[in-house]
Amino acid sequence: MTSTLTRPAHATNRKATRREYLVCPPRHFEVAYAINEWMQIDVPVDRELAMVQWENLIEIYRGLGHTVHVAEPADGLPDMVFAANCAVMVDGHVFGARFRHPERAAEAPAFRRWFADHECGVYHEPTTRNEGEGDFAPAGRYILAGTGFRTDPEAHEEAEAIFGKPVISLTLCDPAYYHLDVALFVLDDDNVAYYPAAFSQKSQRVLRTLYPNAIIVAKADAEAFGLNSISDGRNVVVAQDAIGLIEQLHENGYVPIPVDLSELRKAGGGAKCCTQEIRRGRAE
Ligand code: ARG
Repeated sequence: MTSTLTRPAHATNRKATRREYLVCPPRHFEVAYAINEWMQIDVPVDRELAMVQWENLIEIYRGLGHTVHVAEPADGLPDMVFAANCAVMVDGHVFGARFRHPERAAEAPAFRRWFADHECGVYHEPTTRNEGEGDFAPAGRYILAGTGFRTDPEAHEEAEAIFGKPVISLTLCDPAYYHLDVALFVLDDDNVAYYPAAFSQKSQRVLRTLYPNAIIVAKADAEAFGLNSISDGRNVVVAQDAIGLIEQLHENGYVPIPVDLSELRKAGGGAKCCTQEIRRGRAE
């Protein structure tokens, strides 16, 4: 679909960087409880299809040259596929998650073991409620951080102390956009895409000031989980139904890679939710 559009000249300037991701297969995936507006326990889930769609996502990552680590899923933790929520890692420091809902609480120690077993960074046990990359988006010199539904504002301070980088607090105000990563994603170190109405007026002003050239995403594309995207600075893995955003990405010189994760959407998740970025850097 995108191949029919003309690629603008500056597209060649977008530079991809190789990434390292941690993921977890949806082998025990189901919608057994409803903790966000997208989840309905009476809607059946096709787990086999979820696996096929997820494997396709992983193939895309590998095809782009990224390294993918796979954590073992645990029976009884159906949302473990959303590995983004288990922590946020910056420069070799891992800030562990502390989930809001008891249904997901046991995911934190499960992933903590993964980080320990793989000697992956300095692990910081959280003292505040936070859902990892669901609400923290490392963005160049800043860390953008959501609050309002899952992550407490105190966790933003804790992250700032751990990472030593300015954390920009953003308040989410629409329960459909319960995590930052369904309302905004980082395109590269200098720019983001977001859906303004998901944020408080004050946070919208902050975003406008920090990112005057941001890609502003329409409601229909936000509803299609378009903002739950993964960018490597050039290639953007994006929900296939976010048609308008796909076009905007193309116009802005990115290379959209549409992906179908319809089964995982039934739990309120998409590509980004499935993906924890391992940012080793140099721990100080
Ligand atoms: N069912 C999960 C929850 O409500 C979905 C989490 C999606 N993850 C994300 N990073 N937004 O917690």
